Amino acid sequence: RRVPVVRILGRDYPTDCMTNISSAIRDKLPLRLHTRRNHPLAILRSLVESHFPSYSHLDSLSPLVTPEQNFDLLSFPIDHPGRSLTDSYYINKHFMLRTHTSAHEVDVFSRGETHWLLTADVYRRDEIDASHYPVFHQTEGARIVSADSHGMDQIEHDNAQLEQHLNRSNIIIQDIPHLSTTNPCQPHHDPNHTKLIAKNLKLSLNSLILGLFGGRLNAGEPLRVRWIEATFPWTTPSFEVEVFFRDKWLEILGCGVIHQSTLDNSNVPNKLGWAFGLGLERIAMILFSIPDIRLFWSQDPRFLSQFKQGEITTFKPYSKYPACFKDISFWLPGDATFHDNDFCDLVRDVAGDIVEDVKMTDAYTQPKTNRKSVCYRINYRSMDRSLSNEETNSLHAQVASRLQDGFGVEIR
Ligand code: PHE
Repeated sequence: RRVPVVRILGRDYPTDCMTNISSAIRDKLPLRLHTRRNHPLAILRSLVESHFPSYSHLDSLSPLVTPEQNFDLLSFPIDHPGRSLTDSYYINKHFMLRTHTSAHEVDVFSRGETHWLLTADVYRRDEIDASHYPVFHQTEGARIVSADSHGMDQIEHDNAQLEQHLNRSNIIIQDIPHLSTTNPCQPHHDPNHTKLIAKNLKLSLNSLILGLFGGRLNAGEPLRVRWIEATFPWTTPSFEVEVFFRDKWLEILGCGVIHQSTLDNSNVPNKLGWAFGLGLERIAMILFSIPDIRLFWSQDPRFLSQFKQGEITTFKPYSKYPACFKDISFWLPGDATFHDNDFCDLVRDVAGDIVEDVKMTDAYTQPKTNRKSVCYRINYRSMDRSLSNEETNSLHAQVASRLQDGFGVEIR
C-alpha cells in the first residue's frame, strides 16, 4: 500500500520501510509560526533574541535533517529510544524531521558561528491533549570561546557583569555545584575552565529568565529559579532549569557544557562552550495565558488579533464550542505492533486540529486466546466553529475504516 514517493517542501523523496510521516504533519512544515509577525511564538522568540543582542539570530534552517545530524553527531547511543519509529518522524532511512534544534549545532559551529540563537519547528510523535502537540518550537542558543587564557578572560569579564546585574535583582536561585561526580567534567578539559563556562551558562540563563518572567510577578515577589542535574548525550555537566510561576515549577530548558566530540565534529576542537534548548510553547502558554496548545495553529482572528509584536498580553478566551466524545474499541491483530502514537497520528490525519484529546479508556487481554482489545475515547471539538453530528460521525467512521485497513484491527 506504500506510495513510492512523498513530497516534502517541494521535493520528492523515495519512501521505504522507515517512512512514517503523515499528511497532517506534512501540512505543518511550510507554516513556520515562529516567523509570523504578531504571533505569540514570534513575539516570545524576539524577546529571547533581544536578551542576546550580539548573537547571530537564525531561523530558516530546513526541518529535514539526517539521523546523523539529529543523533549521531551528538553522540546519541545507537539504541536511544528517540531514534525509534514510534517517537520520531522519518521520511525514509536517510531523512527525518528534526526532533530538536540541537540537530543543527554541528552545522552552525562548522560555519564559524561562535555565539548564536536558532529558532525552529521541531517534531516528535506524541499523545494528544491540551499541552502535547507533535509539532512545537525551540530556541537553541550556544556560545563557544577559545579554550585558553584569552577565552577564559572573556568569560570571567562577562561573568562579573552578569553577576552584578543579578545581584541587584529580586531573584532567588536554587543552584547546584557546577561539577559533581554524577555531573562530571570531560576527561581532557581543565575543571577550572569547565566551571567558568558552566557559571557563564547559568548566569546567562538566569538573566534571560529574569527578563522573561521577572516583570510579570506580583509587586515585591521574588522570581524563583532552580537548577537540576540532567543528562544529554552531547553535554556534560548538564542541567535543567525550572521556574516557579503561578504556583507551579515549570521546566523550561535543558543545557550543558558541550562535549569535545561535538566540537571535534564541528571542526572547532580548540574551543570550549555551552548550549541550551528552550521550549517556546510551554513558556508562551504561561506568559500569554494560552490554555490549549492547538490555539497556536489557529487561524481564527479572535485568537490572532489578540497579540502584538513586542508585547506580552493576556489571552482572553472566547467561548468554546461543545465537545463531542466518541469511543472506539477494537481487537488488535495477533502479531501486530501497535503503539498509542500510531493511533494518535491516525486520528490527527483524519481530523486534524478538530481532535482535542485522545485517551485510552480500557485495555483488556482475553485470558484464553491472549487477544488484546483496547478502547480509546476521542474528544472532537473545533476551536473555530461548531461541528455537526454528521461531520463527527463521518470523521469517526473514517478513523474506524483506516484502523481496519492500515492495521488490520477488528472493530468491536
Ligand atoms: N535539545 C535538548 C532537548 O530538546 C535541549 C538541550 C539543548 C540540551 C542544548 C543541552 C544542550 O531537550
